[in-house]
Amino acid sequence: MTTAFIGQPVSRVDGRQKVTGAARYAAEFDLPRQAHGAIVRSTVANGRIASIDSAAAERGPGVVAVLTHRNAPRLPYSPHKGAVDPQVGERLHVLQDDRVSHQGQPIALVIADTVEQARHAAALVRVTYTPESWTTDITRVAPVQPTQQKTDQGEVRPPATRRGDPEGALASAEVKVEQTYIHPRENHNPIEMHATIAAWDGDRLTLWDKTQWVHNTAEEIAAVFGIPAQNVRVISPFVGGAFGSSLRTWPHVTLAALGARAAGRPVKVMLSRREMYYGVGYRPHTVQQVALGASRDGRLAAIMHDGYQETSTYEEFSEALLNASRFLYSCPNVDTRHRLARMNVHTPTYMRAPGEASGVFALESAMDELAVALNMDPVELRLLNEPERDEFKKLPFSSRSTRACYRAAAERFGWSRRSAQPRSMRDGRLLIGWGMATATYPMNFAPASAMARLLPDGTAEVTSAASDMGPGTWTSMTQVAAEALGLPIERVKFVLGDTRLPNAPVHGGSLTMASVGSAVQAACRKAREDALARGGANDLLEAVRRIGQPVEASVDTNPGDESQRFSMHAFGAVFVEVAVDPDLGETRVRSMVGAYGAGRIVNPKLTRSQCIGGMIGGIGMALMEHAVLDARNGRVPNANLAEYPVPVHADTPPVMEAIFVEEHDLHVNPLGVKGVGEIAMVGVAPAITNAIFHATGKRIRELPATPDKLL
Ligand code: MOS
Repeated sequence: MTTAFIGQPVSRVDGRQKVTGAARYAAEFDLPRQAHGAIVRSTVANGRIASIDSAAAERGPGVVAVLTHRNAPRLPYSPHKGAVDPQVGERLHVLQDDRVSHQGQPIALVIADTVEQARHAAALVRVTYTPESWTTDITRVAPVQPTQQKTDQGEVRPPATRRGDPEGALASAEVKVEQTYIHPRENHNPIEMHATIAAWDGDRLTLWDKTQWVHNTAEEIAAVFGIPAQNVRVISPFVGGAFGSSLRTWPHVTLAALGARAAGRPVKVMLSRREMYYGVGYRPHTVQQVALGASRDGRLAAIMHDGYQETSTYEEFSEALLNASRFLYSCPNVDTRHRLARMNVHTPTYMRAPGEASGVFALESAMDELAVALNMDPVELRLLNEPERDEFKKLPFSSRSTRACYRAAAERFGWSRRSAQPRSMRDGRLLIGWGMATATYPMNFAPASAMARLLPDGTAEVTSAASDMGPGTWTSMTQVAAEALGLPIERVKFVLGDTRLPNAPVHGGSLTMASVGSAVQAACRKAREDALARGGANDLLEAVRRIGQPVEASVDTNPGDESQRFSMHAFGAVFVEVAVDPDLGETRVRSMVGAYGAGRIVNPKLTRSQCIGGMIGGIGMALMEHAVLDARNGRVPNANLAEYPVPVHADTPPVMEAIFVEEHDLHVNPLGVKGVGEIAMVGVAPAITNAIFHATGKRIRELPATPDKLL
């Protein structure tokens, strides 16, 4: 009997539930007497509601109530800022006044017996506005310095940093590149659309919600309604993808709770695909300028990276756009400056590899341009500028496997057969290009709690209020628990997704394995030790049988001072082959190899799957995704999956490989894991556009690389 489960390619413990439809998602928890809410949204980007006529809607069949700012109860909206909420500014208050600050803002909620009746009646609400001037065109906004910049883990970073004499070093550099890189707004587009079912029982509220953080949803809604957080229970066992869109608690969750209170019955609010573009965040449109200076032999002398991104008028959303440029390469003279363009849009949010995906696109494109200017192999250039330590934080790396990643991925890819000259590789009439880029993402480790309960029959239940938006938390935690308990995996049941369970941190920033995993491991070890001691036996099964009642252990784990002593990041390298049709301008990715130094890999099967998902996300970012913002009114004309294409099977290359280089990092956390959810998305887009340059000689500096840009 083996109980060594960490490192094994265990299949998803919830796989059968998912493929048979037994797994229930937020919108599927239908309740008796449940009504449905449909949201009416503003059709102007800024101004005031002049009149709102809901008489026809109220007469609609099955309509229970129509809530607008005129009749909705005033809510306390007490202060609440979770780690995922912008720390500067104030969240949107729904139905509290006549102010409209973005296109698509909720301005009424229609509640009816059926969803069809609610949507029909919502179309009958007549609204007029007193519009005010607005800005929805990023090219016409003067960006301003943010009050504060922080990472998605709440770590505060200065918006501007500087070391050495970047201007002087750039001016005297023998070789330089200076370019602007742009990527458009992108939307998360998980398959499961956001939904909330709200049910009140007196002043206690239960929410079945799509969320990446049940406790944060409870705390936010408690603050909005001015009730104790323990009065709000949030249940979210399954999340059908999210990529960051369920980190925050968005206005529709408040509307569901408000509607349920007004109707005196449970209310379900489910967003349509179109609504997903107006209320659950997006990766902001970003404009970045990068200047690199180097000596003839390829040593970096200066890095200047200046970037700005869209945010709303009411909150400063600011992601870690420039982090990588501050430490990824060795360079004595570095200047980074981050700014925000305030517009009449709804607040953007974190989207897979927030900050890094965008920032590294600019940096790694510029590095490729520098390699071309130096007539140097792009891998060689990166190896030459490999730092010995984090020159921004002035700390040693806890581990850094970039060299091993370049080597492993290049070998598997066959990089040595690359002919350096652009347009020199062909397959029939197709232009073939090989490109690469570096990837990095911070190791995040947050406080977490878990409980393990051993039962006399030799089974165990282990719990933590974590989420699983797809990576496989259900499974990986079961593995960690079974190994720590020394029990066969079938005897261990892990449960997540409910505020009644011990606190877990946000399911984001690639920190779940490190944080919840460490808590689960510690709770299980403690339960096992307690049982063995109390049962007076060397064998766990014998011990719990003798005790005859459950043995419980609860543990809270907290990071120590590692982050003061080490710079902790996952690193990787991505290599890509593209084929570009010279007549049609169409790019197809033919193969992709990523190598990652991500610490210990708990489940290679799930991790590979997660990495491939991130790589496919990168194909979308490079070649397809672009939420068009109509500069006249802030509308998103392509707010649907027909006109906002994302990669499908036919777009994914036949060869996709994720290699995990051996890495034993004793500093990061008790499990020695770094997380891979985000890093798999980093570097993919620049590797693809670098490959497109190699294929065609055309440099794509504005994503996505659609055919029109290659003709
Ligand atoms: Mo991730 S953007 O932290 O869900």
